[in-house]
Amino acid sequence: MVKRRVPVPLVDPFARRVKDLRISITDRCNFRCSYCMPEEGMQWLARSDLLSYEELARVARVCVEEYGFDAIRLTGGEPLVRAHVVRLVELLAPLGVDVAMTTNGVKLPEVAHDLARAGLTRVNISLDSLRRETFFALTRRDELDRVLAGIDAALDAGLVPVKINAVVMRGINDDEVVDLAAFGRDRGVGMRFIEFMPLDADDAWSHDKVVPAREILDRIHAVFPLREAPVAGSGHTQPAERFEYADGRGDVGVIASVTEPFCGNCDRVRITAEGKFRTCLFAIDEFDLRAVLRAGAGLEADDLDERLAAEIARAVGTKWAGHRIGQADFVRPDRSMSQIGG
Ligand code: GTP
Ligand code: 5AD
Ligand code: SF4
Repeated sequence: MVKRRVPVPLVDPFARRVKDLRISITDRCNFRCSYCMPEEGMQWLARSDLLSYEELARVARVCVEEYGFDAIRLTGGEPLVRAHVVRLVELLAPLGVDVAMTTNGVKLPEVAHDLARAGLTRVNISLDSLRRETFFALTRRDELDRVLAGIDAALDAGLVPVKINAVVMRGINDDEVVDLAAFGRDRGVGMRFIEFMPLDADDAWSHDKVVPAREILDRIHAVFPLREAPVAGSGHTQPAERFEYADGRGDVGVIASVTEPFCGNCDRVRITAEGKFRTCLFAIDEFDLRAVLRAGAGLEADDLDERLAAEIARAVGTKWAGHRIGQADFVRPDRSMSQIGG
């Protein structure tokens, strides 16, 4: 008989309910975005160090069944460079929760339809510039056209709402904010502008490269007027604060992690490609779920699930109030964005 579990909400020490799991499935990527990875010299994880799709799906199932998680997001590196991702989506879809992906979009023309058929609900796609040279300077790959085709493929496959992420860096692409906003309006995709966070591999982040979300909104508002109040939350904690255009043509979001942190509403935890469980993007401590999974390989399924659930609860018990970017005691994690999962 199938055992039915009644999920018990998982609450952290600051009374936030944790219910969103972000799964990094690979540390590799086919881009080298300067805000995330070094141009060369990355040390990749060995294949045997990665959690298998079955192991990842087991962690996700424990989060959903034991703790009532309602959202799963696949990230990387670039999730679509790992072979047979469709298979992972097929393993996750029966959990019955939102299964989304954040991707650079290059491989979407080939796989968007298969992903949708397997049960992926939606995608967020990175696009930092509409100018070929700037796109190349940022990503170190000449793939603008393929990313644009990827956005079309996602729309065509019904992976909606399609959201577009642009990391804004002063002096590099901040002059394109209005053009990108216009692109979002024209294509019917939700454009979101992200403040540059100190998680680049080159350690080149500095405060003066961050363009505050307020400044981004002001620039857009001057050309495409926005309604004053942000769109009310959907119940799901979204880092993006969204504003509707006054003419009714969609909305635009800003993710103000640096100037207006949203940690007070955080409902997220993460697992890295090699199975390290992290309670914050900027966490220093990690909890080794791969060790729990592999040490328990000979156990009864329920016993192993119980051990995983206990380790996840122990980790969440250490979740801090929020990151301390800009404060004297801020410590950068010793991983870059591509090794954490974004
Ligand atoms: P939606 O559910 O579609 O709103 O997704 P999302 O915006 O949470 O996810 P996405 O992967 O598209 O991330 C967009 C940006 O938000 C990226 O720069 C992420 O690094 C950042 N981000 C995602 N989760 C967190 C978080 O918990 N804390 C902070 N500070 N930034 C986050
Ligand atoms: N700061 C802000 N956002 C970042 N991303 C990657 N690196 C950074 C950074 N240093 C974004 C990517 C992608 C998402 C997963 O995280 O653009 O959209
Ligand atoms: Fe949550 Fe940490 Fe992101 Fe703040 S920085 S929102 S605590 S993951």
